[in-house]
Amino acid sequence: MSASLDAARDEDLFTAEFFDDPYPTYRAFREHDPVLQLPFNLRLEQAQEQFHDESHSWLVTGYEECAEVLRDHRRYSSAVAGVSAEEQERARLVLINTDPPRHTRMRAMLNKAFTPRRIAALEPWVRTLVTQLLDEAGDGPVDVATTVAEPLPIMVIASLIGVSREDLMTFKMWSDAMVAVPEPDTIDDNRAKTQAMFDYIGAMLVDRRAALESGSDALGDDFLGALLRAEQDEAPLEDWEITSFCVLLLLAGNETTRNLISCLLNVAADRPDIWKALGDDRSSIHPAIEESLRFDSPVQILNRWATQPTVLGGHHIAAGDNVAVAYAAGNRDPRQFSEPEQFVATRMENRHIAFGIGIHFCLGAPLARLETAVLIEEMLDRYPSISRSGPPRFQRAARVVRGLTSLPLELGTSARL
Ligand code: HEM
Repeated sequence: MSASLDAARDEDLFTAEFFDDPYPTYRAFREHDPVLQLPFNLRLEQAQEQFHDESHSWLVTGYEECAEVLRDHRRYSSAVAGVSAEEQERARLVLINTDPPRHTRMRAMLNKAFTPRRIAALEPWVRTLVTQLLDEAGDGPVDVATTVAEPLPIMVIASLIGVSREDLMTFKMWSDAMVAVPEPDTIDDNRAKTQAMFDYIGAMLVDRRAALESGSDALGDDFLGALLRAEQDEAPLEDWEITSFCVLLLLAGNETTRNLISCLLNVAADRPDIWKALGDDRSSIHPAIEESLRFDSPVQILNRWATQPTVLGGHHIAAGDNVAVAYAAGNRDPRQFSEPEQFVATRMENRHIAFGIGIHFCLGAPLARLETAVLIEEMLDRYPSISRSGPPRFQRAARVVRGLTSLPLELGTSARL
């Protein structure tokens, strides 16, 4: 069922049915108008409650129109509207919500710390983690959302930041608390755990800087070491900036990758032909991952704000208007993709926008692809067949992401006939 085009509040749009299957709604909106003005302010994140009253929200569901917004960071800013410069400075997602020139400087440093070589070098560590997780999961009925898809990205990112192996589980507990939906009875405990994580990263930083100054730190090859090395070439970063980068990586790379894994396995659970084809030809894993990114984009919608009066899809957009880019809807636009509503595992022409476009293109795309590919390879080795052992459950808490909170599968160790 799709939400009505004349929904009066954003609650009418974000219904339980929408979370379970948002695509009929996206289709209806796009067919009506790929740049649709909403009669309410779309609240994707908490900060947007500070919208000025006269601003409008536009929902962009066409592929070309999404790309036009994402490519033009001068007309469409990523800095959250209605928030003071001081608050922007302190915003945790400091890179993703920053415009040039500040974004350019930060991104250059992060790029140095996040090279393809460093990501590729993580493969053996990722494989070890995957092996451990699958050993623990075993076979038979397993909820792969909670036992595999959820812990893997957190552990990889924690290791990337330089968290010691003995602290990994504590770190996972803290980061779970950080991304948890606030509930009255857990909010204080979660805040304390979030603070503990900030303190932990802050203390790591103090140690590394001290070791650096005393000449005893060879600036190891982890992310923190690489950032400190990049800092030596450029202007020094403040400690809060480095801590924010680490937290951003954790948030940006955690639920997204988890959702890519769970959405791909969710499709494969109903399509034994896909699982068999992947098992028969491992080179088909990468196209299948790209198709999953297109078909069920882990990041569904993110915001931009118009910096000046402009025209998009024939509509006049006022300066200050909120422009919500629905990557997931663009990725099913029939003007761009043939059979857009079908999962075509072997799709070749697949210029999806699941990782964004332009200056904010996902920094962690190679890492997300690596983690997912290694997991699928290892699962194919162990489980020649997978099928459902219970109903899947999609998350309904966050409006910007899509993924499963529960995915019970029967992991079979012998091939189906
Ligand atoms: C399947 C997994 C992932 C998806 C679908 C995804 C998606 C995205 C998207 C759509 C953007 C662009 C945001 C915009 O246009 O404003 C983005 C940016 C970003 N992503 Fe990812 N992401 C994933 C995994 C990761 C991972 C694993 C990391 C890091 C460990 C990461 C770190 C970032 C960062 C730092 C940015 C901000 C880049 C900037 O503003 O310059 N992401 N991601």
